[in-house]
Amino acid sequence: MENNRPNWTSRVTFILAAVGSAVGLGNIWRFPYIMGQNGGAIFLLVYLSLILTICFIPLFAELAVGKITKKECIGAYESVNPKFKFLGFLNPFTGVLISSFYFIVGGWILNYIYLSLSNTKIDDFGNYFSLFTQSSIPSCGFTLIFLLICIIFTARGIKKGIEFANNVLMPLFALILAGLIIFSLSLPNAHLGLEYMFKPDFSKVNAHMFLAALGQALFTLSIGMGALLTYGSYIKEDKSITKSTYMIIFSDTLFALMAGIMIFPAIFSFGLEPNSGAGLVFVTLPYIFSNIPHGSIVSAAFFILLLAAAVTSGISIIEVPVASMTERFKISRKKACFILFWIISAIAIPASLSFGVLDNVKIIGKTIFDFLDFATSNVLMPLNALFLCIIAGWFLKIRGEQFISNRFLAKLFDIGLKYIVPLILVSLLYIGLK
Ligand code: PHE
Repeated sequence: MENNRPNWTSRVTFILAAVGSAVGLGNIWRFPYIMGQNGGAIFLLVYLSLILTICFIPLFAELAVGKITKKECIGAYESVNPKFKFLGFLNPFTGVLISSFYFIVGGWILNYIYLSLSNTKIDDFGNYFSLFTQSSIPSCGFTLIFLLICIIFTARGIKKGIEFANNVLMPLFALILAGLIIFSLSLPNAHLGLEYMFKPDFSKVNAHMFLAALGQALFTLSIGMGALLTYGSYIKEDKSITKSTYMIIFSDTLFALMAGIMIFPAIFSFGLEPNSGAGLVFVTLPYIFSNIPHGSIVSAAFFILLLAAAVTSGISIIEVPVASMTERFKISRKKACFILFWIISAIAIPASLSFGVLDNVKIIGKTIFDFLDFATSNVLMPLNALFLCIIAGWFLKIRGEQFISNRFLAKLFDIGLKYIVPLILVSLLYIGLK
């Protein structure tokens, strides 16, 4: 079986795939709305500090564990100690839960592509968005179409499509974002948005915000559900992962900041609320598009490129359970994808309906959609990242000197991996969940 595992054709393909996994809805949809709910600039400050100081450690460790063990998550954990099998299993489980709400947002994008291409005129975008998400059949239908797109790409193998999407479409996406930023900054009162993003109000610091920032950092960098471990396991022996780690962090942060600078000035200019939740971007963007020349063409182009970014992330989420099913349970890739389609649909449909007919179903006071988002980003991903650091630092004994030439930095990495990051993860989980 070992020899039948897929491999990246080149290091560039691997880097592109890993960056493609990181850059997605987490940057454009989730980052602005979580920042808007957690006090703006102060959240950004905490988020960036977490990314620059601690997140690169579990990111690197996850890729390294995959590369060293050459196994999917369950097998990788089991090869370290058979007792860890259960912890490995938590990764594909988290993946299935993430897909179940991620693909709903993917469905919203498909709907907005349809709106732009059909040139539909809408007066009140806030009202339109709530009516659409409350509608049972259209919103579930688009969710299933998005799921199908990702499943088909995954069923065809890990490489096809990813290279094109990342080589051609991502630079185009950055370009369109840059254009929209210029427009957004030229709006009246744009400076209020910039102040909201960059002038921290220290009185808004609270424990919950730290957990939200950590959850967002892990989510956006694809850490803590085995996506990077699985992608890392397809790397051929001789390829280094240090450069990939920097590339992922750099591109991901760039896209998130660009999304923020595009969205917040527009929010303040149009008099919208930054803390309005998951619909934030889907209400603000149409306002921007309806105010620029050839808005519907720009809007179609924007949402198509966002779709590409979401698909390359979606593929990496599904790849985790698919790899576990094919390698552990010897199910063919196509069959695994078929089974997963049904499992994810069974959770995604009620989650999608939780904006409408099922909105009174609450789990710990949250709708099904909000619960899935919270449980994965704020609980399961930090937990998985914690187990991963312990396994990498204490059992596989991954050491900084193996890949960092500067001795001081290498030592710092070791201390971070073995002590500091696990301690921070435990404390944030404890404080945030209390
Ligand atoms: N990082 C992706 C995004 O920002 C989402 C993702 C999470 C992908 C976890 C893989 C694993 O959209």
